[in-house]
Amino acid sequence: MIDVMKMFKARMYMKRNEPFLYSWHAYVGYELDLFKAFERPVTQFDVADALQLDEDLLGQWVSVGVSIGHLKEAGRGRYKVWNTWKLPKPKGNNSSGVLLKEMMELHIPTLLSYPEMMRNQNRRHFDEEKHAPTVAETSRLLEVLAMPKMSKRIRENRSRTVLDIGCGEAGYIKKLADRFPDTQFTGIEISPAVVETAKELTADNDNIVIENADLWQYQPERLQDMVMMNNVIHYIDLEKRQALFTELATWLEKDGILSVVTPIAGSSDDPPFANVFNSFFSSFDNLYRLPTRQELAEWGEEAGLTMLGIKTVIKEGSWYIAQYQKKS
Ligand SMILES: C[S@@+](CC[C@H](N)C(=O)[O-])C[C@H]1O[C@@H](n2cnc3c(N)ncnc32)[C@H](O)[C@@H]1O
Repeated sequence: MIDVMKMFKARMYMKRNEPFLYSWHAYVGYELDLFKAFERPVTQFDVADALQLDEDLLGQWVSVGVSIGHLKEAGRGRYKVWNTWKLPKPKGNNSSGVLLKEMMELHIPTLLSYPEMMRNQNRRHFDEEKHAPTVAETSRLLEVLAMPKMSKRIRENRSRTVLDIGCGEAGYIKKLADRFPDTQFTGIEISPAVVETAKELTADNDNIVIENADLWQYQPERLQDMVMMNNVIHYIDLEKRQALFTELATWLEKDGILSVVTPIAGSSDDPPFANVFNSFFSSFDNLYRLPTRQELAEWGEEAGLTMLGIKTVIKEGSWYIAQYQKKS
């Protein structure tokens, strides 16, 4: 009986891990631009030769691809991509592959080091300069979903000045600036490499200024109609979060809007992903757990802001947008 249970459990673990194979395969394909290489029927030898890759390893990757339906045999030893809608686009086109990259290179290795970190009672240090460009790019995948909620406030409130704190690649302000040409947008960002990209991507927008600044050293030149802070709270020490909200409230004009995008975690009915995010963030001595819904309400209230609402951006990831207004 016990042996049967053992088998049953082992089988269950394997089954549950099957989705990992799809992500792993897609990640390798994205990282090495292999889906592009197999766009037309081609042999693995030609691809290995053209891209200077280990032929045996490429051959194994191709076999997995065929078995999971990412690739298909095309006769005479050639293979081509299949089910292309499931595959990430090549690098550099705001491709979903960047999420695979972040998961495989950052999240999964960190979670795998849990036993070691717990045993040694030490945490990792998040290398901002190394990861900032990937993280800024992944964050952009949420833009399409959160954007309408920001546009609505800018339109309704007739905001003329908008400040984006930790703006990353400036994806939000770029889209908003195209839409609201009479509004002046400012983005501040601590990573010089990310600032560089943000400046390049917004070079054509006269109504955008990007500044390389740490939010703790920054003070806007004038009061703002809207202050945004998207996917930044987990960079802020727990003890400083109330102070930050209180400070941001002082940067707002009367009736100004504070708009905050963040995953929410910490309660047992939050989806598993959000709670695992917290395991991930807690692995670093310079990243911090996600806020709870209640904290978001309290920080706003304490800062003298009126909560306009907390709306879902992505349910499965427990991503929300919280918006507040300065009434007096
Ligand atoms: C997860 S990204 C989010 C980027 C963008 N807001 C978005 O949602 O797409 C967080 C960004 O905040 C920046 N950041 C972290 N701490 C900061 C600070 N103290 N001052 C300014 N920017 C900061 C990081 O470098 C990173 O680019």
